[in-house]
Amino acid sequence: MAASLYFIGGGNMVTAIIEAVRRKQDGYAVDSLYVEEVSQERLDYLHEAFDVQAADSTSTPKADIVVIGVRPQDDVAGVVRSVSERFDPAHTTVISIVAGYTIDQIEQNLGDGFKLARIIPNTLTTTDYGFSGVALNGHATAEDVEDFLRTFGKPLYVQERLIDVITGFYPPNLVYHFIDAYVDAGVLAGLPRDIAKAIALDTLIGGTEFLKQKDVLPQVLLNINNSPGGVGITQAYTLNKNGFAAAIQSAVLAAVERTTALGSEAK
Ligand SMILES: NC(=O)c1ccc[n+]([C@@H]2O[C@H](COP(=O)([O-])OP(=O)(O)OC[C@H]3O[C@@H](n4cnc5c(N)ncnc54)[C@H](OP(=O)(O)O)[C@@H]3O)[C@@H](O)[C@H]2O)c1
Repeated sequence: MAASLYFIGGGNMVTAIIEAVRRKQDGYAVDSLYVEEVSQERLDYLHEAFDVQAADSTSTPKADIVVIGVRPQDDVAGVVRSVSERFDPAHTTVISIVAGYTIDQIEQNLGDGFKLARIIPNTLTTTDYGFSGVALNGHATAEDVEDFLRTFGKPLYVQERLIDVITGFYPPNLVYHFIDAYVDAGVLAGLPRDIAKAIALDTLIGGTEFLKQKDVLPQVLLNINNSPGGVGITQAYTLNKNGFAAAIQSAVLAAVERTTALGSEAK
């Protein structure tokens, strides 16, 4: 049976999800797709690009899934209240993608009768890669959200306390930072930028694939590659001396802390 989807907030993350839903339309039928968004320009774009129907805070379609896609800095509580007033808990499952905003915070304004999933998607939505961290409230089951979530990632059902951790750990930004620095390193050493980028991307994908094939931790392959007094161990020493691992670990911890702070500062 085709689904009816309703998104509140039509920004970057919701757009990435809608694009993925449309790309998967052969496997996940959608008969209506609504977006409620303050910017008319944004709504026009979404209608043009993905055939969405514009909605507003008075709309009451019979939606199977409502996605709360506003920012933690927006009036999340007000949005949640309006969902509770307009949609039927017997029919609609609510999914929040708001970083840091807990199930408890949502239920304070939603009431506790709705099936509710708090998820953290990532932005690799159209690649067939990318996990979505998913925490369910007491009424929802994986079956309520699985087919929808599969259109833009791989659902990973976890305890809610891990959602903020996944939010700070998981976005591909760290990988983009690494590739950026890696390509620059090649250029610094004398490679043309296009060649440095081609090698960096291929090495990243190949290295990942090799680790998966061997099913081992990176230390096992580093031990093989880093021969005594050789090039690899010299590189490892230089990375250690410059705090490479600590820089990544501090970045993840800071991002997790920031996620939790955003949620607790939210209205
Ligand atoms: N971007 C990511 O990588 C990512 C990843 C995981 C989770 N998330 C979560 O996804 C949510 C959206 O993030 P984003 O990056 O997509 O932000 P965004 O691009 O700023 O999108 C938010 C949109 O919601 C609109 N909006 C605000 N209040 C509204 C309301 N009451 N009714 C309808 N629309 C409203 C905003 O319009 P105006 O700009 O005109 O106010 C904006 O277009 C956030 O909660 C974030 O934590 C984002």
